[in-house]
Amino acid sequence: MSQQDWDDVASNPCTTTSFNDVVNQLEGRRRFIKTGLGASALGFLGLGAGALPTQAQASVQAGQATPQALSFAFESLGPSVEDAVVIPKGYAHQVINRWGDPLFTHSPEFKGDASDDGVAQALQVGYNHDGMHFFPMDAQTNGSQNSVEGLLVTNHEYITPHFFFPEGVQPGNENWNADWVLKSQNAQGASVVHVRLKDGRWEPVLDSPFNRSINGNTPMRVVGPAAAHPLMQTQADPSGQWAVGTFGNCGNGWTPWNTYLTCEENVTDYFGVGTQDPDQVDYPDAETKAHMLRYKGGSKEASSNYRWDTHDVRFDWTQEPNEINRFGWIVEIDPFDPHSAPKKLTALGRFKHENAAWALAPDQRVVVYMGDDQRSEYIYKFVSKNTFNPDTPALNRLLLDEGTLYVAKFESQAAQSQDLAGKGHWVPLTLDTPIEGGKKLGDLFADMGELLVKTRQAADAVGATPMDRPEWVAVHPQTKEVYVTLTNNSNRGTDKERWPGGPKHPSAEGANPRNENKYGQIVRWREQGDDSTALDFEWDVFVLAGNPNLFEDGDLRRGSANINVKNTFNSPDGLAFDQQGRLWIQTDGNFSNAKDYEGQGNNSMLIADPVSKEIHRFMVGPKGSEVTGITWTPDQRYVFINIQHPGEGQSVELSQQQPTAISTWPDGTKAKRPRPATVVIWREDGGIVGA
Ligand code: FEO
Ligand code: CA
Ligand code: CA
Ligand code: CA
Repeated sequence: MSQQDWDDVASNPCTTTSFNDVVNQLEGRRRFIKTGLGASALGFLGLGAGALPTQAQASVQAGQATPQALSFAFESLGPSVEDAVVIPKGYAHQVINRWGDPLFTHSPEFKGDASDDGVAQALQVGYNHDGMHFFPMDAQTNGSQNSVEGLLVTNHEYITPHFFFPEGVQPGNENWNADWVLKSQNAQGASVVHVRLKDGRWEPVLDSPFNRSINGNTPMRVVGPAAAHPLMQTQADPSGQWAVGTFGNCGNGWTPWNTYLTCEENVTDYFGVGTQDPDQVDYPDAETKAHMLRYKGGSKEASSNYRWDTHDVRFDWTQEPNEINRFGWIVEIDPFDPHSAPKKLTALGRFKHENAAWALAPDQRVVVYMGDDQRSEYIYKFVSKNTFNPDTPALNRLLLDEGTLYVAKFESQAAQSQDLAGKGHWVPLTLDTPIEGGKKLGDLFADMGELLVKTRQAADAVGATPMDRPEWVAVHPQTKEVYVTLTNNSNRGTDKERWPGGPKHPSAEGANPRNENKYGQIVRWREQGDDSTALDFEWDVFVLAGNPNLFEDGDLRRGSANINVKNTFNSPDGLAFDQQGRLWIQTDGNFSNAKDYEGQGNNSMLIADPVSKEIHRFMVGPKGSEVTGITWTPDQRYVFINIQHPGEGQSVELSQQQPTAISTWPDGTKAKRPRPATVVIWREDGGIVGA
């Protein structure tokens, strides 16, 4: 296991819907019409009727249709162990937005030995890229489908100390200093980079007013039921309404009103007890102890992996006990307003957020699906109280401030649908929700603010189903069926504690069918009546990962009929649909090159057909990297993906003073260290990528 993989630690009917029908439901419609962009303009934008260009447009279609099986024209790849991006014949790629690249014309030049300081880092592209979204230029104001210029917003999740700093990290991390803390805070969050296509290559527009580093020190508003709550108040912010920074930014989402959602995942790893001896520190009370341990972090048992707590008092929970509660949220960013304060959306719950995938219900309420990535944690959905209306952009901005959060229960009881396996239910996390012993959630939590800060405990109380580390969720653009990657759960069915004092990891059952699950699976569900707000659903295992020739699962292989020696993979993580319903799968397996996983090679990206269940490998990443984050230009001629933590692996330990780089991607063998970066891939014949 990589030491950085903290979340692994125990703790279509395109041809039948007119373009106007779709555009009329999108925000920006009025100005779109007023500016006279009618049918004649569609040709200019490359959009004829029948060419639904974005997930947004596809997702707002009324009615459902049965998708047809897809065809795959590219020659699918086998595994690779090269220190390179490998793509099919007939495709080309380029690297953009490497860690340390300039965000602005005045940004200091990146120093190849990583001796750049914290101030420089705030002016440069951040580290360990993750979720990402391409916003066509002017999308927010006129519904533009510009495929040659836009704002590329990219998450930066965490830092890999032995590559991120100029010298090796000492055992116990004791040589961290104040600038290292600042630099690592400024390297996380999200970057907004104005990009454009020029002479067949993508380039950043460095003098653009939109470029921005949103990082661990950016002021942001807290909105929703937990705003101003006593549990959100600190000495530095007695109002509980202004938080400082975002970090641990894993997967992402975006909204029909063209804002970006960045998801805070392993945030508790940054909190500790400062310079005190953990054995000499006690929790203020039993309740605080239970809360800290339930989130597996910031506890004296789980010492900080970074030393922020020794140099920045807000990360010492003995000094600022509530600061930790201000992280673990989804943050909404308006990329088109560089002066706007990002918003922490407390109505969507506090946990180790992976990503956020939206759907519009038939009544136009907004539904957001989310996973909590830790072993045996849960799957959630948020349903907005109010409805999306393209004519009221200002009100749409408030839709994620108020609504109901639900948690999923997957049951083994047979589904009624012939093509699905089991039933499931959504349980609302409200004060009125009944729990065992004739009580209600309101007997455990004083108000919704407290319940949302302690979302995991509320979900425990209603008996939610512990899952095999929920990573990304994706909504099919036509059927609205929801797919989730359950990356692995080596503790399932074992005696290892789920959290100190808590229940054990449950045994294999239903949607989590393997004990000591090292390879992961993709599960899908269909909401009752195809209504994303429904309280009941039916589910199935779409694929069980792992090579069937090497790893026998007996009867459990039902979902693995589509796995073969060529496409075998483990630990599915990133997941997204393109407009035609291709399911793009990205992997984050810790031991892909290790002997036990022989044949699986480096982490890669595959494309699956939800209808035929065929899976083809499309791309393989460099050594020690994870492939994550995915977004397309509206014309789907370009796909952007991220290479995270190249060179990270078993051969590199945090305790090593000098890194043993197994990768020098993308700068080549003369480089001193690998650099996380974005890769743009296109078809040389200009066709749709992946088709
Ligand atoms: Fe940041 Fe769960 O991956
Ligand atoms: Ca990872
Ligand atoms: Ca992930
Ligand atoms: Ca992962």
